[in-house]
Amino acid sequence: QDLSPGKAEAGATVFKRCMACHSVGPDAKNGAGPVLNGVVGRAAGVYPDYSYSAANRNSGLTWDEPTLATYLHAPRKLVPGTKMTFAGLNKDQEIADVIAYLKQFNAQ
Ligand code: HEM
Repeated sequence: QDLSPGKAEAGATVFKRCMACHSVGPDAKNGAGPVLNGVVGRAAGVYPDYSYSAANRNSGLTWDEPTLATYLHAPRKLVPGTKMTFAGLNKDQEIADVIAYLKQFNAQ
């Protein structure tokens, strides 16, 4: 299939579907979900002052790109018992794009 490299600009649009629960950027605050600054490459369940489920905290996962892609396709399949009540993204391109978008916030 035609999967081009993730595009951060397209990912910004995909991320609107995450914004009910997540924020990124210099003024990001934990909400229903944790702040996602720096999440790409980080261990699961470690953002400060956010109350994770045990399922996420003890998952032993690191959010590298392949793991994030698997998670975003079907969160509750990779992390049974997660409190992220989001069905997931169906399109591989949208997943690649939103990961490219998230990587821009690894410095924050
Ligand atoms: C956790 C990404 C949509 C609620 C997470 C984590 C990631 C993530 C990577 C793990 C963070 C960590 O371990 O530090 C995304 C992306 C989304 C999205 C990219 C959109 C494509 C949503 C939506 C909601 C939500 C729409 C609310 C309905 C949560 C919650 C957690 C979480 C509550 C904590 C899970 C737990 O502790 O079990 N999300 N998310 N997310 N997300 Fe999302």
